[in-house]
Amino acid sequence: MTSLFARKPIADLVPDDADSGKGLRRTLGTVDLVALSIGAVIGAGIFSSIGTAAAGQMAADGVTVVRYGAGPALVLSFLLLGAICALAALCYAELASMIPQAGSAYAYTYATLGEVIAWIIGWDLILEYAVGNIAVAISWSGYFVSLLSGFGINVPGWLAHGYREVILAAPDSPLKALIADAPHIAGVPVLLNVPAFAIVALITWLLLIGVRESMRVNKAMVLVKLIVLAVFVVIGVQHINMDNYKPFAPNGFRGIHQGAAIVFFAYIGFDAISTASEETKDPQRTMPRGILLGLLVCTVIYIAVGAVATGIVPYKQLLANDPLAAAFNQAGLQKFTWFIALGAVVATSAVLLVFQYGQARIFMAMARDGLLPKWASKIHPRFRTPYLTTLAIGSLVALGGLVGDAGETYDLTNIGTLFAFSLVAVGVLVLRVIEPDRPRPFRVPFVWPVAILAALACVFVITGLPWEAWVRFAVWLIVGLVIYFMYGRSRSRLRSAA
Ligand code: ALA
Repeated sequence: MTSLFARKPIADLVPDDADSGKGLRRTLGTVDLVALSIGAVIGAGIFSSIGTAAAGQMAADGVTVVRYGAGPALVLSFLLLGAICALAALCYAELASMIPQAGSAYAYTYATLGEVIAWIIGWDLILEYAVGNIAVAISWSGYFVSLLSGFGINVPGWLAHGYREVILAAPDSPLKALIADAPHIAGVPVLLNVPAFAIVALITWLLLIGVRESMRVNKAMVLVKLIVLAVFVVIGVQHINMDNYKPFAPNGFRGIHQGAAIVFFAYIGFDAISTASEETKDPQRTMPRGILLGLLVCTVIYIAVGAVATGIVPYKQLLANDPLAAAFNQAGLQKFTWFIALGAVVATSAVLLVFQYGQARIFMAMARDGLLPKWASKIHPRFRTPYLTTLAIGSLVALGGLVGDAGETYDLTNIGTLFAFSLVAVGVLVLRVIEPDRPRPFRVPFVWPVAILAALACVFVITGLPWEAWVRFAVWLIVGLVIYFMYGRSRSRLRSAA
């Protein structure tokens, strides 16, 4: 029997049908990739979760601290994460240039750490892409509904909040009133986040019709989000009160660390562009450039936005679902809040687009290897997109958005992504040892210290998350392993060919 740790030869991982007219189309260049990266990265994290990262989180009793916030030192959390993600990005860049395949971290792991670990990573990436998108869709819905209310259109609460969001809300939350307001079916309140469902359905349709069209829409959305954040910084900087920076780090390093573990969500996505390898022109050169440049641009923007947000209001006032709009409101800049809501709606739409895109390609790669059913790798003859997977994932995420809770999914997404990053870093080292002579169009400089530091730093960020996230993550991995042993192990193309 072939070992569970059988490695897929790299030559087999590089698709040979990409330009034969049957595979995906190679249309993306560096600018497309940087746009894709900004599209994936800047979203719910900066528009929603920075509030908790700065202010921390208290338990429902109002006394127990669940997480310590970074305070104005949030900029240090951003800086720390920028550095850690840069280490991980270097590792991604080396593997993406060697193995330009749609499966991203899943494919790299198949070549380095073997099949069972690759399956675990593929399963784990569902947390980053699909589960992450449930949170992003819910954040989108919140901003969209407030944007509509600015125009006098009020969506009934029971049609804008999912069942779990309402059930999990604190006893004193206004959301609880929705239980009485909602119609009931067989005694169960009908609580549906219709906008979250609708946006995922729309994005899924865009992805079905083709990559080139989706990228055009993505670029327009990236432009809007950059303009909105630039306006936030330029106007906000004139309203900074230096007193708000004192104390700078109210909870010391513990606050900076736990703040970073929350706001890590804002960085997720620079790696997602590696799933576009099979649709990238000259991926060996373009991919590393796109990954690193995209990360740099986002880090600079985050530090500027973080410094302005904590400078215009006392950091505790950022504790809101819409912290940037709340900061402007408190600073007497109400006339711009609709503009920020618009930016958030557009920004999160772009995130949804890239992650739905990435998840479909990872599933496609796993199905090609026999670890998922074969239909998941089918390409549409006219649109040349993995249409069945795109539809299946779209349906699952849309349903998750319809009834789910964002808070529940943020931590799970962060822990899953950090885990994938650390395995990718280990994978780089493994491949350097077992295949030292294979051409590496991009090489991580000082690979040993860089990759080891990348892996350890990701684990360090994970330790800033609450223990519940660890438990949920462990359960997720166990479920994944059970599925592998019941399905993928016997159907794996690599193992059945051996
Ligand atoms: N980084 C993405 C966001 O913040 C996932 O929405």
